[in-house]
Amino acid sequence: MPTVLITGAGRGLGLEFVKQYAAAGYRVFATARKPESARELVALQKQHANVSLHTLEVSEPASLSALVAQLSGEPIDILINNAGVMGPERQQLGSLDYDGMLQTLISNAIAPLRIAEALLENVAKSQRKLITAITSGMGSIADSSGGYYAYRASKAALNMNFRNLARDLAPRGITTIVINPGWVKTDMGGAGAKLSPAESIGGMRKVFDAVKLEDSGRFMNHDGGELTW
Ligand SMILES: NC(=O)c1ccc[n+]([C@@H]2O[C@H](COP(=O)([O-])OP(=O)(O)OC[C@H]3O[C@@H](n4cnc5c(N)ncnc54)[C@H](OP(=O)(O)O)[C@@H]3O)[C@@H](O)[C@H]2O)c1
Repeated sequence: MPTVLITGAGRGLGLEFVKQYAAAGYRVFATARKPESARELVALQKQHANVSLHTLEVSEPASLSALVAQLSGEPIDILINNAGVMGPERQQLGSLDYDGMLQTLISNAIAPLRIAEALLENVAKSQRKLITAITSGMGSIADSSGGYYAYRASKAALNMNFRNLARDLAPRGITTIVINPGWVKTDMGGAGAKLSPAESIGGMRKVFDAVKLEDSGRFMNHDGGELTW
């Protein structure tokens, strides 16, 4: 049975990843800050014996160490760094919230790298060997329309971290990509977004199935296309 680990699985895109991978017969390690309080996630776990819930606050190294100890020796075919934040209210020039920006960088750019590094041996012993992070088109430097300093900088930094990882991990046969989910109806994306979580996750799962080691280091879109850095 292939395995997948998802961060930020309590709601939004993370929850939809759990739903779809559980239905597809994967062994799912669903992580969240407080999994026991995530009502829909708990309900999914009750329906699917192949789903287990784990606590992970991605910005806390001690929380990650506890998870790594729990998962010792478990292969992870697909590692999905999904947890992320939009960042502080004040992201306009003239009123920037630098403490909030720093926290956003920790959650969105540094934590996924730390998680990938910490769970590297789990991925290396799997069949599929895929590490991915949910980035954003807003992290594209070439396409930036401005504003959202904290969020954009965090996703651009995430992209660079994963591009670096791709180079380091390719010799071990590990594929590393970042992927843009599109604009999706979640708490973050809002009700006016274009895609449903089901559509976005369905597209990203196809990309995860299709990518090969030669694709490592690419900035993919949920529809299989590619974005400019
Ligand atoms: N929705 C979109 O249109 C869109 C577009 C581009 C990129 N994205 C990216 O897609 C990913 C998922 O977004 P979403 O739309 O599902 O957002 P969301 O509805 O706001 O959900 C965010 C998830 O991340 C978790 N999270 C945040 N900080 C965390 C932390 N420090 N430790 C552990 N979990 C944490 C949240 O957990 P709690 O419930 O505990 O807060 C929640 O499960 C994010 O990386 C986001 O940047 C989304």
